[in-house]
Amino acid sequence: MNPEAASKQVAIITGGAGGLGRALCAHLVKAGIRVAVLDLDLAKAQAAAASLGGEAMAVAADVTERAPCAAAVQAVQARWGRIDILVNAAGITGKTNLKSHEVDLADFDRVIAVNLRSCLVMSQLVLPVMLAQRYGRILHVASIAGKEGNAGMVAYSASKAGVIGLTKSQGKEYAGTGITVNAVAPAVILTEMHDTMPQAQIDYMTSRIPMARCGTRQEFADLAAFIVSPACSFTTGFTFDLSGGRATY
Ligand SMILES: NC(=O)c1ccc[n+]([C@@H]2O[C@H](COP(=O)([O-])OP(=O)(O)OC[C@H]3O[C@@H](n4cnc5c(N)ncnc54)[C@H](O)[C@@H]3O)[C@@H](O)[C@H]2O)c1
Repeated sequence: MNPEAASKQVAIITGGAGGLGRALCAHLVKAGIRVAVLDLDLAKAQAAAASLGGEAMAVAADVTERAPCAAAVQAVQARWGRIDILVNAAGITGKTNLKSHEVDLADFDRVIAVNLRSCLVMSQLVLPVMLAQRYGRILHVASIAGKEGNAGMVAYSASKAGVIGLTKSQGKEYAGTGITVNAVAPAVILTEMHDTMPQAQIDYMTSRIPMARCGTRQEFADLAAFIVSPACSFTTGFTFDLSGGRATY
């Protein structure tokens, strides 16, 4: 990538108005990167973009629907002419604290569509741009649940295990093109996502962290910003750990 382009990178962050996405958007904007905050609700995305202070735009799309996602990607390209970074941070837990025999299949399908299928949809939309640029960084936000399987969260755990598998395939597919595809697997970092989750489920997850605390949004943003930087150039298909010692692999 030429140095001039490096100083004017463009990032799309899905779920960019949420807890982790927004922390990363703020980190990237501070580093001089142009950031498109993509989220379900335009007003929420606009508020997040306006709060960032640098060059940011808001785009609204449901990541389970290809057409609005394509329109969002086109809007970003039309404004800034390139896409260097895609971070898929949109996600939902679905209903939790349930055993598998109690799981509602419509809820299961929705969780898979939002958490897993969206990663493929968004990748498909930005990869042609990145291939033409011969440079790109894709980061999918998985979860410790995808590595370890959280009891009471079968849909979420399965979706995130799928994200880890998707990342491994994509890393190999695009190795040698200048594009890296990685994932990050956080343990608990308190955000809006936990507002609707039963306390028993949060306590279960937190009790398994050897550092005996939740992670912070800043810790997520610091690691994610490195993974999508030009400096992270010899790692692809990998799922980075962010679990306070819960996973050591
Ligand atoms: N916070 C944690 O403890 C934790 C741990 C592991 C993994 N994760 C993952 O990190 C990602 C971000 O989580 P968070 O904690 O910031 O959650 P959050 O609820 O604060 O943010 C998620 C964002 O995704 C958006 N979103 C949801 N469905 C969408 C859709 N269909 N289309 C577009 N946008 C949609 C929401 O509007 C929200 O702004 C998720 O993928 C989550 O599974 C979070």
